[in-house]
Amino acid sequence: MWKLLSLPLTFVQLSLSLDLLTVATACSDHPYHISNFGQLPHRDGHRDATTPQPVWYSDDGSRTTAAELARKREQLEGFARWNRERGQMPRSDDELRDLEWGDLNILHTTDIHGWYQGHRKVTPPEPNYSGDWADWASFAAKMRQKAHGEGRDLLLVDTGDLHDGNGLSDGFPPYGAGEPGGKDAIDGHVSNKVFSMVDYDLLTIGNHELYNYTVAKDVFDNFRPRWIDRYMTSNVKIAVPDADDPSRNHTEPIGSLAVSLVTPVQGIKVVSYGILFDFKLAAPGIIVQPPEEMIEEQWFNDSLDAAERFGVDIFVILGHMPVSGDPAWQAVRRKIRSRFPDTPISILGGHTHVRDCRMLDDNTMAMESGRYLETIGFMGVQNLRARIRGLVEKVRFTRRYIDPNPRNFAHHLGLSTPSKLLTQKGRFIRFLMDAISDAWNLTRLHGVVPQDYYLDRLPYGHNHSLLTLLASEVLPKVVRPSEASRRDRPSLVLINSGSQRFDVFRGPFTRNDQYIVSPFKDDFLYMPDVPWRVARRLLGGLTDKKPPSVVEVAQGELERSGEERKRYGSGFIEDIFIRWQKSQWAGFLSSGDPNTSTSPGASTSTSTGESGDEDQGAPGGTDAVQKAKKMLEAEAVRYETLELGGRAQGPSLGYRTIDGCEGEGDDTIPDYVASNPVPEPRSDEDLVDVVFVDFIMPPLLELMNSFDDSNRTYTADQVKVWGDITTQLLYPRYAELEWQPPQGAAAAVREQRADAAAKGYAPFTDDAPSADQEPEADAAAAAAQFVVQRAEGL
Ligand SMILES: *[C@@H]1O[C@H](CO)[C@@H](O)[C@H](O)[C@H]1NC(C)=O
Ligand SMILES: *[C@@H]1O[C@H](CO)[C@@H](O)[C@H](O)[C@H]1NC(C)=O
Ligand SMILES: *[C@@H]1O[C@H](CO)[C@@H](O)[C@H](O)[C@H]1NC(C)=O
Ligand SMILES: *[C@@H]1O[C@H](CO)[C@@H](O)[C@H](O)[C@H]1NC(C)=O
Ligand SMILES: *[C@@H]1O[C@H](CO)[C@@H](O)[C@H](O)[C@H]1NC(C)=O
Ligand SMILES: *[C@@H]1O[C@H](CO)[C@@H](O)[C@H](O)[C@H]1NC(C)=O
Ligand SMILES: *[C@@H]1O[C@H](CO)[C@@H](O)[C@H](O)[C@H]1NC(C)=O
Ligand SMILES: *[C@@H]1O[C@H](CO)[C@@H](O)[C@H](O)[C@H]1NC(C)=O
Ligand SMILES: [Zn+2]
Repeated sequence: MWKLLSLPLTFVQLSLSLDLLTVATACSDHPYHISNFGQLPHRDGHRDATTPQPVWYSDDGSRTTAAELARKREQLEGFARWNRERGQMPRSDDELRDLEWGDLNILHTTDIHGWYQGHRKVTPPEPNYSGDWADWASFAAKMRQKAHGEGRDLLLVDTGDLHDGNGLSDGFPPYGAGEPGGKDAIDGHVSNKVFSMVDYDLLTIGNHELYNYTVAKDVFDNFRPRWIDRYMTSNVKIAVPDADDPSRNHTEPIGSLAVSLVTPVQGIKVVSYGILFDFKLAAPGIIVQPPEEMIEEQWFNDSLDAAERFGVDIFVILGHMPVSGDPAWQAVRRKIRSRFPDTPISILGGHTHVRDCRMLDDNTMAMESGRYLETIGFMGVQNLRARIRGLVEKVRFTRRYIDPNPRNFAHHLGLSTPSKLLTQKGRFIRFLMDAISDAWNLTRLHGVVPQDYYLDRLPYGHNHSLLTLLASEVLPKVVRPSEASRRDRPSLVLINSGSQRFDVFRGPFTRNDQYIVSPFKDDFLYMPDVPWRVARRLLGGLTDKKPPSVVEVAQGELERSGEERKRYGSGFIEDIFIRWQKSQWAGFLSSGDPNTSTSPGASTSTSTGESGDEDQGAPGGTDAVQKAKKMLEAEAVRYETLELGGRAQGPSLGYRTIDGCEGEGDDTIPDYVASNPVPEPRSDEDLVDVVFVDFIMPPLLELMNSFDDSNRTYTADQVKVWGDITTQLLYPRYAELEWQPPQGAAAAVREQRADAAAKGYAPFTDDAPSADQEPEADAAAAAAQFVVQRAEGL
């Protein structure tokens, strides 16, 4: 297990490759130790610098501190940062479907969650999403030029959830509010400026902008002004101090209520709204009105009156709200239809992170465009001009989900090579993102992941399942030893799988990845000395406690129980997304080898197929839909029996293994995983420590009290803090321990990239400015000027 410490000295020389050496030299004044972890990412400050350093014990009983370990690693690897390597290109033999342009065209992003730097790992389908904000900004600008050149109009639209999920939005240093830089220490404050470098036409807010008043106020003060009234929050208000009497508050919409605009090329009259689903967990000071109530407001009526008076050719309605499963879209559509029986309506949704599309009526298309800069939605409205002239009654909607990568972008622009994609502004955006990433140490390397670990593509128990890694490796090796005082007491460690947010792919594991995989910062707590007869039932108890969550994603309205409605209202979408993703993987799992497979991505086709017409889906698409539906039904039945029969007879934790058979592809992720005490207690009366993430304390105490029939009562004040570990530090520490390639990081990553290249995923070649482009500094200056002009124009 102590690969690192037992390495012979000769490796030191081997691993000091040239590219890393320069970085190492640059940082050598500030050697960075693992022990800094305790202070660095902690913003809640409940632990201070006096916390003793964690100590690890190897199998032979020898001990080492985190700082010793870090020093060893530095000697061995000789660097603290990873370079700015980008992702790989998708396979060059992929066939691309062309866009079907209309008179009015829309490019749509949603649920970016901080993924401005794109996907950089080599594992498929990541190369399909390897474009970054610089590529997207360039694509958007050139698409607009192309559209205008062809006499068409193009709108850029975003539907919210800009941060939470990536280092560039959440990994800011822990400045105090009063310090210089303090104003940057707000989720999304800095990355919103990166976002704003794309010239969106219409935008709306997401629920992630509203969990925290400071964040929402920052959006109000610093983000909304950039867009003037094009940032719409038709049903979201914020309490702000009165201008003439700051001791009093009034509420006002964060953005505007509605916007009408006339497109520059064809003069198409557009009326637009921006709606949030009925979100119940907004911070105090934020008011979210249910959309069904919003449409009964006087102002909404007035906006329709105005539309009637001035004319409207199409409604473009934005919403951080899924196109399947939320009845509010139909309510909004019906309200508009009561006054405008057949005016085309284009709906751009979001929130559940899926690719989805539905026709709500003959003249209404609703489209949802995924998440994490994995999808650029394209919608075309054909025959709109003919309809305006009264030549036809109906428009024809088309849509396409574009994988954001330079190859696909170049293809849709008709460029001969991806290296022609980037604009000067694009270059500046990349320069800016790299600068932020460096300043915040997001490039700091923790280790190199040797293989892929999937969060939900493979069932728990499989060697490539992230939850297997978590339960059998990370919890025992990182969490258990972090409380030295309880070293002699066996412990049961429990964690909620919802604390894990993304796959861990092979390749460099940096500080940025920590914000991607395990972004929440939850402490570990423990209840000392619990009899094994009580402790051993806790995992099962927690698993049973979870309400069933049957959610139909393919089509149709939701039948939700009260509990499910509550989860949905709180913004909880994992069940919906995971089910959708499973349905995407299902066809593939039953047809190939799940262990090694590299084909069909989680999101390359939709429940309704990829082409414009629903009944002309991609080959095999209908089968996949049928299969997915069957699986969803089976799942529903299983949950029903579970609910009726009380104690589950459904599969329990240890029994979920992969066998290559069809049904397994639809397995659900366990809600909790555990690392059992080693050795397992022999007697029921043996005492163990029950270690758990802080937010599951209430249900856990309840279960302990119900399972223990002695007269012991378990209360919150008996619970203590376990070590110095948080959920955010799990993988960084594990990486420092176990993901140290003997050949050195640079060599290991080179091998992985070569391997990917051999499979057809070429490295990026467009990074160096070509002869006909200005050097980066000039580009940066030009772009900076652009920003200034823009700001003055406001
Ligand atoms: C809200 O965000 C601010 C700025 O990052 C932070 O200081 C504060 O603790 C957060 N509030 C809550 C309740 O999380
Ligand atoms: C105004 O609203 C904010 C946010 O809810 C709150 O913190 C503040 O106390 C309010 N001020 C007054 C005077 O009500
Ligand atoms: C909205 O407008 C319709 C038609 O103009 C009218 O019948 C209705 O009473 C109005 N509702 C409100 C709340 O003003
Ligand atoms: C980044 O790491 C260096 C040491 O490598 C440290 O001196 C600096 O304070 C860190 N900066 C931030 C913002 O965490
Ligand atoms: C996981 O790997 C171990 C050894 O590395 C092997 O014994 C085991 O069979 C593997 N399990 C699965 C499910 O592949
Ligand atoms: C990547 O995109 C291509 C089309 O551009 C598609 O054929 C392929 O299936 C995608 N691969 C994955 C793994 O999503
Ligand atoms: C997946 O790998 C495991 C061991 O790594 C093997 O036992 C199993 O047969 C493989 N599954 C398939 C479908 O090949
Ligand atoms: C109940 O508590 C008393 C002391 O308060 C103790 O002597 C007794 O053994 C306990 N009973 C059980 C079943 O644990
Ligand atoms: Zn989201």
